[in-house]
Amino acid sequence: MNGGGNLVTDDVEKAEILNAFFASVFTDKVSSHTAVLGNTVWGEAELMQKSPPSLISLAGGAPNPNTFPFKMATITTGDGTAVNIGEDLMKRALQYSASAGIPELLSWLKDLQKSLHNPPTANYSPDQGQMEICVTTGSQEGLSKVFEMLINPGDNILLDAPTYPGTLAALRPLGCNIINVPSDQYGIIPKALKEILSRWSPEDVRKHNNIPKFLYTIPNGGNPTGTSLTTDRKKEIYQLARQYNFLVIEDDPYYFLQFDKPWAPTFLSMDVDGRVIRTDSFSKILSSGLRIGFLTGPKPLIDRVILHIQVSTMHTSTFTQLMIAQLLQQWGEKGFLEHVDRVVEFYRVQRDAMLAAADKWLKGLADWHAPAAGMFLWIKIKGVSDTQQLIMEKALQKEVLLVPGGAFNIDSSVPSSYVRASFSLSSPAQMDQAFQRLAELIKEAV
Ligand SMILES: Cc1ncc(COP(=O)(O)O)c(C=O)c1O
Repeated sequence: MNGGGNLVTDDVEKAEILNAFFASVFTDKVSSHTAVLGNTVWGEAELMQKSPPSLISLAGGAPNPNTFPFKMATITTGDGTAVNIGEDLMKRALQYSASAGIPELLSWLKDLQKSLHNPPTANYSPDQGQMEICVTTGSQEGLSKVFEMLINPGDNILLDAPTYPGTLAALRPLGCNIINVPSDQYGIIPKALKEILSRWSPEDVRKHNNIPKFLYTIPNGGNPTGTSLTTDRKKEIYQLARQYNFLVIEDDPYYFLQFDKPWAPTFLSMDVDGRVIRTDSFSKILSSGLRIGFLTGPKPLIDRVILHIQVSTMHTSTFTQLMIAQLLQQWGEKGFLEHVDRVVEFYRVQRDAMLAAADKWLKGLADWHAPAAGMFLWIKIKGVSDTQQLIMEKALQKEVLLVPGGAFNIDSSVPSSYVRASFSLSSPAQMDQAFQRLAELIKEAV
């Protein structure tokens, strides 16, 4: 870690502390992968990738792609771009590939991260926590592997619930102690975080005395709350992370669905220490079914995740990666961002239609805030202490479905007066009708 008020780094050799820090956050599970694989992230696919074409390899266990039935493909996009996968490329697409991701996609993504976030770590040495990237099978794979890498039973971790159930489900079996950090419509409240952290003394921090290992948050268009963290709050939270020496996991699948420009600076862009792990997703802008996401963070940690990928899925589908890489290379960053703009415009119209329907039917019956990103409206129903029964029993009879808020609580049996409405798939007319039905339901319930 760099200095700058970090309680741990003062007076101690920086590189030593960094290595000790990275080593201290790993769990035994990933260490055993390291033992099996000889502490290297280079497998056979990686070696082949680096070898000259004249190399004769009798080492490979890969099947012969000439026996595979698929020969070539042309995939046409809505804007008329044709992604061609000829015979040679198809052989590569159908073959095993490197666990970190195929090189052309990795280098495109690295350039994108540098251009969007300008991370201070981009020019650090590997030991200092240099920015590293790996491709994941959706951001969910990245998240779950990061959690497995970091958490030992009994560890404290911080997050702002209500939050994404996929995160809660990945965390629960790991036996960590989840500490809920209060939040409002601008995300985590730094003062509340500070208050929670004050139970650990500087001495506790120095001795790693069960201080929280990381803080997890969804900084833009939160799922389910639709809230976005303000820049000032991010800065304050990052300073607390430095002071108490914990990592920040920035789960940002709705980054590209921000309705206002300039887009908010990310934790990654502030990461002078190499303590931020960022999960990105192409699910909301290119395809959710293709399963493409990417992890960005300090090299010692990302390398560990790659080891885990090597022993689990081996890699994200090569075909998918090549298809995406071809498209991104043809588009360039400019074309990609133009596509993102078109997607954002679609969701903006959808959001506005949902807000109009809410204004028309739910005024006086419920409260909500207009989301600045994402695809969700988080609605607090007045006079209903638990929406579970309202939705699961009565709403279905009225032919309207929303997600009861309890599903997003750390303990899902804790009552919630909220519901989550998505403005992704319904037409404005359907949203209007749905909220008319919800309004009737609320009036009958209270
Ligand atoms: C906050 C959050 N994180 C992660 C994910 C997982 O996304 P992916 O499809 O990239 O795995 C989702 C999906 O909805 C999400 O809402």
